[in-house]
Amino acid sequence: MGMAALEPTLIVRADIWRLVSFALEPGSRVSVSQSTQTLCLQEATTDIMVNDNSASSQPWPLPPLAKRTSQLAPSPTLALDSLAKEMKRKGISVVNFGAGEPDFDTPAFIKEAACRALDAGFTKYTAVGGTPELKAAICQKLRQENGLDYSPSQVVVTVGAKHALYELFQVLCEPGDEVILPVPYWVSYEEQIRLAGATPVFLPGLPERGLKIDAAQLRTAISERTRVFLLNSPNNPTGAVYSRAELQQLADVLEGASRCWIVTDEIYESFIYTGEPHVSLPSLSPALARRTIVVNGFSKRYAMTGWRLGYAAGPQAVIQAVTNLQSQSTSNPTSFAQAGGVAALTGSQECVHQMVAQFRKRRDYLVDALRTLPGVACPPPDGAFYAFPQVSAVFGHRWHGHLIDSSAALSRLLLEEAHVAVVPGSAFGADQHLRLSYATDEASLEEGIRRLRRFWQEIE
Ligand SMILES: Cc1ncc(COP(=O)(O)O)c(C=O)c1O
Repeated sequence: MGMAALEPTLIVRADIWRLVSFALEPGSRVSVSQSTQTLCLQEATTDIMVNDNSASSQPWPLPPLAKRTSQLAPSPTLALDSLAKEMKRKGISVVNFGAGEPDFDTPAFIKEAACRALDAGFTKYTAVGGTPELKAAICQKLRQENGLDYSPSQVVVTVGAKHALYELFQVLCEPGDEVILPVPYWVSYEEQIRLAGATPVFLPGLPERGLKIDAAQLRTAISERTRVFLLNSPNNPTGAVYSRAELQQLADVLEGASRCWIVTDEIYESFIYTGEPHVSLPSLSPALARRTIVVNGFSKRYAMTGWRLGYAAGPQAVIQAVTNLQSQSTSNPTSFAQAGGVAALTGSQECVHQMVAQFRKRRDYLVDALRTLPGVACPPPDGAFYAFPQVSAVFGHRWHGHLIDSSAALSRLLLEEAHVAVVPGSAFGADQHLRLSYATDEASLEEGIRRLRRFWQEIE
């Protein structure tokens, strides 16, 4: 049966075609019954082959998607992580330096609290912005650890810190607004800013300052279009930590920019290896605190990435707007995950200290080993759990004939040929670098380094 003969039937049944085409595997065969004018799957086959679900290869293209999503780049770190996991599933031994999540299990007392909540039937909707217990625990944490005084109405619990950030950009930005974003930056910021119709203004971190920005740069970048300044310290991907003095200098500039909101992403606050305590920007200036929203979460600090729990704290009007947005989208974060969150914040923090001690050892091992690779520069990061070596010295060289001309090309070769997953610096706006997470066990770290050494020896 020829394609042309089938077209009228399928056009009539386009709604069914759409449903069926999503359910089909590439290469599936579809049979059309002309007599009943229905489309059905049968063992007997015709010559319609389903190649994939992309609009261009379908015989009858789908209607267009909204621009805001069709132009959206998927998270490169998550894509790489799932590729590495897929290779592992196929039996390939991959050393995964790509993941942005602690390899530790969630501490038992947190899991037990969530299980108890489930057993007690805590399985219904909660207040949209989080349970009173969790909000109270967050307020107490922010007061005790960060010197920030918030009432529960100034806190919203979200489905991960990523969700809090997404909602904040939606609430704070109009199309045409600018968001100042220090580079290198975490992968999701740029897309989230663009999704809100705003424009990221990239402020390159200075190599002589460990890829941090300084006050003079910030002063120059701020204009009347600036709606948000976004700070992430400790930083993903560099691990850079802004000192109190550096933050104070930024705060002095920001105090003069009265139409600019400040968002500080403090999700790595527990992972600092300098011995200095974490400093939260709004704690330095009450004037600034009125315009600052602090974002934090449970994923990194308590190894709770899969629980999807985060929060934002700031001016009540902003938090109310975020809560309203949440009420029309996700509703509350998962009820029993919130019970786990209460236990995490109110229980012993010894689990966090133990994890940080492990990360410090791994950081030292990984950084020392990376520095032995020819052409690789890697100052020890002060925080988070990533090494961010500069590898651009090997650009222009070849590995078994393959040209290494970018961090993406190098990462691809490392994954495909050395079975080592790393994230290209280009994902963070810094093509000269790679990001390696040391949130992975010692044996994998050692094996990963062995493979990197072998790979580097074979660079021509
Ligand atoms: C800098 C930064 N902010 C926010 C997040 C989001 O964390 P989550 O949504 O898991 O709470 C991440 C996760 O990798 C991150 O690295």
